[in-house]
Formats: sequence, structure tokens, C-alpha cells
Amino acid sequence: MQDLDEFTATDAALAQLAATPNARLKEISEAAVRHLHAFAREVNLTPAEWLAGIAFMTQVGKACTNVRQEFILLSDVLGLSAVVNALHDKKARELGTQSSLLGPFYREGSPALALGDCIVRNPDTEQIVLYGQVTDNDGAPIPHASVQVWQTSAHGLYDLQQQDHDVMDLRASFRCDDEGKYHFRTVRPLGYPIPMDGPVGKMVRAQNRHGFRPAHIHFLIGGEGFRELVTALYFGDDDHIDSDTVFGVSGSLVITAADDPGSPVAGLQAVRYDFRLARAVEGEMGRVGADPASLLAAE
Ligand code: BEZ
Ligand code: FE
Repeated sequence: MQDLDEFTATDAALAQLAATPNARLKEISEAAVRHLHAFAREVNLTPAEWLAGIAFMTQVGKACTNVRQEFILLSDVLGLSAVVNALHDKKARELGTQSSLLGPFYREGSPALALGDCIVRNPDTEQIVLYGQVTDNDGAPIPHASVQVWQTSAHGLYDLQQQDHDVMDLRASFRCDDEGKYHFRTVRPLGYPIPMDGPVGKMVRAQNRHGFRPAHIHFLIGGEGFRELVTALYFGDDDHIDSDTVFGVSGSLVITAADDPGSPVAGLQAVRYDFRLARAVEGEMGRVGADPASLLAAE
């Protein structure tokens, strides 16, 4: 019979996992045990702190609904989602455009609009134009690539956060033209706080963080035979561009709206951004993130 202490308890737990038949499950479970135990030893975790942690995770679980995934939010604010994104990007056959977080406000089935349309039902501030081309990694156009976009209004709210939240707004699906080109009109989105009314928001406040994301427009881009690209473009002049609460911003995704003689719509400020898709790897999922409803359904 082994005497258990804070180190041999780790060996004992690992020994019980040794027969796990699924090799990947075994690898993940063993690493989780090793790192969790090391974490408890490093901070000398007390029983009261351990219980507080369990109560916190319980609250996180209870906050999850069809339209809210508090565990993903927790992963986001701890930077874990950014790590998973970066690991995923590294596994691509080619680099392509850098990815960014899908976030909790993506919805399947956004309105299919024609190129050039405005994605805002009632634009109450000046419009801007987003345009560019979707290509493969060598710059060859991907004809008819699909481009889904979603964003907050000029007042910092997604459609889902507004009173008539059943009406899709500030989001759309486009098909590029024969040369992989897209363009649409929108309003400049406003930066906004992550959902702060749950346990994760409470934690973020306790850490003395502002909770904001810089203004951005989300993109989900696909083409036959290409890895789906989940990314976002961030407005460089936002006050929070260097302190995104969920670590989604990378230099290559920062944009500025400006006068642009090359824009397909005259008279409006424009942003040109060309997206490069990597070729698909068989059997691999390109999307890091999910519609919250699909995770509850998977129970
Ligand atoms: C967003 O971009 O919408 C978002 C991403 C992660 C957490 C919260 C919001
Ligand atoms: Fe967002």
C-alpha cells in the first residue's frame, strides 16, 4: 500500500489512467492530471479556495444557454482560445490569412445579400465599404467563395443584444464574383464589452480588467477544397486595440477606413482587405468556436 502525499497522489492518479484505450484521450487526461496537480502545489491551494473554484465553475455551467456559452467566454478571457487558434493555424498546409476568434455572436443562416448591399437595416451613421478578393495562398482567385460577416452596430450592440433580437441585422452572407471579389457596405462598428453580467464578467472585474474588445468585423470565409477561415478585422484607432480582453487582435488583422480611389463605391471611406485561404486538410475542422446552441444539443 502506497503512502499518499501531494506528489505520490499524482503518480497514483496517473497509474489509474494508464489503461485508457484511446491513445489521445490518455495523453490529454494524463497531461490534465499532471498540470492540475502541479498548479495546486504551486499555489498551495487551500480547501476553501478549491471549493470557491468549484462554485465558480458551477456558476459558469449554469450561465450556459442556447445563446450563451460561458465556458467559451472563460476560455477566451484566459487566452486559451487564442492558444488553440494559434495551434490550429500552425497545422494548416499553408499559412493563409491569420485566424481570430469566432466569438459568441455567430449565427448560421444570415441573410444572403448581393455584392454591394448594406448589411445594416437602418444605418444611422455614415456608411463605409469593405472590399477585396479571396484567393488561395499563391494569390489565385477563388471564384464564388462564400463570405459571411457579422458585427456590432455603431452603438456597440449585436442584433442578438437588441430589443428585436429575433431579426437578423448587421450580418450577411455573400458570394464572391467570378474573380473571388467581394464588396459590401456597412457602418463602422463600435467596440464593446464582452458579456459582463455573469461569473466570467465578475472574474474579469476582480482582475481589474476593462472587459472591452476593440471595434471589429467578423468574417467566416469558405471555398470548395479550402480550409474554412474564421477571422476578424480590427479598427486600429480603437482605444482598446492593444488590450483586447480576449486576445483576438494580431497586427496583420488591423485595418483603417480611409478615402480610397480604388474602392468600388465612390464617396464613402473604404477598407480593402484580401483574404488568403489555405488548402483543406482531409477530415479536419477549420472552425475554432461554435454556435452555442450546437454545444447544448451535443449533450
Ligand atoms: C466577439 O468577438 O464577439 C467576442 C469574442 C469572444 C468573447 C466575447 C465576444
Ligand atoms: Fe465580436
